[in-house]
Amino acid sequence: LLEDFGVTSNAFLPENQPLSRLPHPYYAPWEAIASSLSSHIQQQTLRREVDRLPVLSTDRLTSEPEWRRAYVVLGFLTHAYVWGGEVASEILPPSITVPLLSVSNHLSLPPVATYAAVNLWNFSSVSPTSDLTDLDALTALHTFTGTQDESWFYMVSVAMEAQGGPIIPVMLSSLSALQHHDLPTVTECLNEITSCIHKLGVLLDRMHDKCDPEVFYHQIRPFLAGSKNMGGAGLPKGVFYDEGGNGKGEWRQYRGGSNGQSSLIQLFDLVLGVEHIAQGNASPDSCSRERKMESFHREVRGYMPQLHRKFLQFVEEGYPGGLRKGVEDLLATPPTEGNDSRGKELREAFTTATKALAEFRNKHLQIVTRYIVIPSRKENKRKGNNLAMASSRLPENDQKTFVGELTGTGGTALLPFLKQSRDETFRAGDFSR
Ligand code: HEM
Ligand code: ALA
Repeated sequence: LLEDFGVTSNAFLPENQPLSRLPHPYYAPWEAIASSLSSHIQQQTLRREVDRLPVLSTDRLTSEPEWRRAYVVLGFLTHAYVWGGEVASEILPPSITVPLLSVSNHLSLPPVATYAAVNLWNFSSVSPTSDLTDLDALTALHTFTGTQDESWFYMVSVAMEAQGGPIIPVMLSSLSALQHHDLPTVTECLNEITSCIHKLGVLLDRMHDKCDPEVFYHQIRPFLAGSKNMGGAGLPKGVFYDEGGNGKGEWRQYRGGSNGQSSLIQLFDLVLGVEHIAQGNASPDSCSRERKMESFHREVRGYMPQLHRKFLQFVEEGYPGGLRKGVEDLLATPPTEGNDSRGKELREAFTTATKALAEFRNKHLQIVTRYIVIPSRKENKRKGNNLAMASSRLPENDQKTFVGELTGTGGTALLPFLKQSRDETFRAGDFSR
C-alpha cells in the first residue's frame, strides 16, 4: 500500500538516492550550468548562460528518476534566473519554460523550486550504512550559494524524512487499531509517535550547528522566494513564462519554497487530527465568506508530488478527524468494565503526542526568530529604516505586531501564521474544550 503512494522506508524520500546527473549527453548543456550554478550567479553570468541554452525537448527522459532530476535542475535554474541579478527578472526564457512546463506537467508539480526540488530529490549521502538520518553524511546536489550553510539547511529536512520513515506504518496501525477499539495498541503507537517527534525535534535543532542565520537570511533565503504577492520585490504581475514565438506564454504566480510543503509534517497533523484553518479566520464561527478561504496547509498540497498528495488524501478520507475524533467518540461512550483506565491512558498518550508536535512547532518558531526576525531587525537598523527605529521604542506587544508583517518565502505573514499553527496543534490535545 505505502509503495503505491510513493512512500518508502525513508518517508517521502525516493527509494534510491536521486540521480546526480542526467545520463543522456543531450542534456549536457543543462548539467553544465547546474554544476556551476553558484559561480555563475556570483559572477552575474547565469542569465546570459541560460539565454544561450538551446530549447531542449523532454523526449529523452526515460524514467521517473530522470524526470525528477530534470525537475531539480530546471527548478534551480528558474529561481537562479529570477533572483540571480541586481533586480528580479520578470521574464523566464523558453530555454527553461518549455522543458520545465513539460516536466512539471509530467510530475504534476508547479513549475518552480518546491520542497521536492530542493530537498526530497536533491541529496547524496556517503553513509556507509546507507542510513539517511546520518546528517553529517548528507550533501545537497545543488545550492544557489555554494555554501555549506545552504546544503545543511536542505539536508536537515532530508535527515528528518529518513527519521520519520519508520513511524508511517505505525501511524496507519494506530488509526486502524482505533477503529477496532484496540486501545492498548493505539496507546502503544501513540507513545512511539511521541518519541519519533522528539527525535525530529533533535534534528531540527541541529540547524544551528552549520547554518548561519546571517548567511541564511541574506544569501540563501532570497533565492527561495516565490512570485505570488511579490510586487514589493519587483514582480507585480508574477513571472512571465515565455514559451517562445510571438508572445506565447503566460504570467504566473506561485508560492516560494517552504518546508510547509513537507508531507511528513502534514501527515502527523492528519493522523492526530490537528485542524488548520485559513489565516485571518482564527474563529471557526466567523463569517462564512472567510471560512471558504483555503488554509495554507491545504493549498500547499498542490506543491507536493502527486502520489504524496494522494496519500494525505487517503488518510484524511479514510480516517476523518484522525485519532482525535476516535478518542473523542470513545470518551463519549460510557466506560465498560476494565475499559475505563485504558481510556484514560489512551487519552493521556494522545495529549502527550499532540503536545510533542506543538513543542516541535515551538522549536521551529525559535528558529524563525533567530534566522529571520533578528537578522531582519538588524538589517532595518542598518538601513536606518525609520519604521524599525520607531518600532524598537514601542512596547513589546506593538513590536511583535511590527515584526509580524514579515513575510515567509512561502508567502505567509510568518509569525502570526506559525503561532496559529502551533496553537491549533495544542488545541487538538485539549479535551476540555
Ligand atoms: C513554515 C521558516 C526550517 C517545517 C515555515 C514558515 C517560515 C519558516 C517563515 C512560514 C511559511 C512561509 O514561508 O511563508 C523556516 C526557517 C527554517 C525552517 C527560517 C530554518 C532556517 C524548517 C525545517 C522544517 C520546517 C527544517 C522541517 C520539517 C515547517 C513547516 C511549516 C513551515 C511544517 C508549515 C507551518 C506548520 O505546519 O506549522 N518555516 N523554516 N521548517 N516550516 Fe519552516
Ligand atoms: N520559508 C522559509 C523562509 O521564509 C525558508 O525563510
